[in-house]
Parts: sequence; C-alpha cells; structure tokens
Amino acid sequence: MDAARRAQYLEALGLDVWVLRRPPAAVLPAPALAAPLPAGPAPEPLDAETAARWLALRAEVAACTKCPLHATRTQGVLGVGDPRAQWLIVGEAPGAEEDRQGEPFVGRAGQLLDAMLRAIGLARGQNVYIANVLKSRPPGNRDPKPEEVSACIPYLTRQIALIRPKLILAVGRIAAQNLLGSDAPLGRLRGRVHHYGELNTPLIVTYHPAYLLRAPGEKRKAWEDLKFARGVFRELTTAS
Ligand code: URA
Repeated sequence: MDAARRAQYLEALGLDVWVLRRPPAAVLPAPALAAPLPAGPAPEPLDAETAARWLALRAEVAACTKCPLHATRTQGVLGVGDPRAQWLIVGEAPGAEEDRQGEPFVGRAGQLLDAMLRAIGLARGQNVYIANVLKSRPPGNRDPKPEEVSACIPYLTRQIALIRPKLILAVGRIAAQNLLGSDAPLGRLRGRVHHYGELNTPLIVTYHPAYLLRAPGEKRKAWEDLKFARGVFRELTTAS
C-alpha cells in the first residue's frame, strides 16, 4: 500500500493528525505500516464436503426460526468474505442496512470497519471473513438477548470451524463477551491475546466501529488494537 493511500485510510479513521503529531521516535516507520500482509498460499477451490457444509449453513440461516427475531427480520445475514480467510471479524448483529442488503457491516459502521481493515492491509473479501454473533436484526438495534445469542451462536461456531481462521478480531463488547464467555468490560479485554474454542484460535478484542463513530476520541485506542492484531498475526504466520 503506498503512503498516500495509507494516509487516506488513516484519515478515514480520524487518525492522520494524531499519527503525524507523534514524536518521530514513537512513530512506526512508514515502511512497516505500509508493508502488505503475507499473501499466503494461492486459494484452491473448496473441497466438495466443505462447500456442501457452507451451502447447508446458508440455507439453515435463511430458513431459521429458532428465535423470535425471524418474524421481524427481512433476511438472515450469514456473513461475507473469503471462506478460507485467515482473519475473521466478528460483530454483534445486523443493523437496518445489513438486514436490507443481506451483508454484514454495510452501513456507516461498516464503512468505518472497511477503513480500519484497509489501514492494516486487509480488504473485505480478501483474506477476511466478516460475520456477526446474531444472524437476524434485533428491532431498533437493541442489544441481543441472551436467549437469542444461545439460539444463534451455533451458526457462528460452525462458520469458525469451516473457516479455521488464524486470528479472530472481536469488534465490540457483545462479540467479545459472547465469544469469550466473559462479562468483563471491553476495556479489560483489549490489549491481549485470548483464545477461542477447541482450536484455541487467537482472539483479539477492539472497539465496535459504531461506538467509534459516537466516540471518535477512542479511535486512537482502536488503532493501537489493530496494530497489535497485525503484529500477532505476523508472528503467527511467520512462526508456522
Ligand atoms: N453492527 C454489527 O455489529 N454488525 C453489523 O453487521 C452491522 C453493524
């Protein structure tokens, strides 16, 4: 990624001024920021069994009536991206726009999420899969109820088992707490590597982009989280 483009992404995050103002010794050198992530092996087609599992999952989510949200949603929103992505981003639940379009994070928060991903060299659909804890929109964008999460989270568990990501980035309190089975506040879950599930997948927590839209002063901390996640990812991929 060239420096001008990186500056654009950081500006979209509201971070350009902060980055430029830091004393030179504390600034990550531009080449390190701009370095692309390892491309990884060339994608091969999904094997027939995995493809069939994805199809079944998609069909089940589309027809799901396991919680009352099915009555008010337009459609179930399974997820979007590379089914073999090394990065999995997990948010909370579809909002109004996601419910309409059938894709996670396509509203204003999604635009910020895309800018956050681009700032660390990722792009929607390329080496990233984006999903939510809930596949159906809670009316009025209220928080998911525990019983809705219990009904829905097996779909996310199946997605994770199919994707087998190298790193999960949980954005926001709802995703973080439900994936980690914790009720700790988000601030206490940031800044370290957790592990998820039987495969012990490394999991890092950061702020939800919708929160960052409401509290732009926190973008600086989100940027720290993203750099931390990128560093952990690099260690994981260079170690293996
Ligand atoms: N917020 C989320 O957590 N997920 C979406 O898909 C959209 C907004």
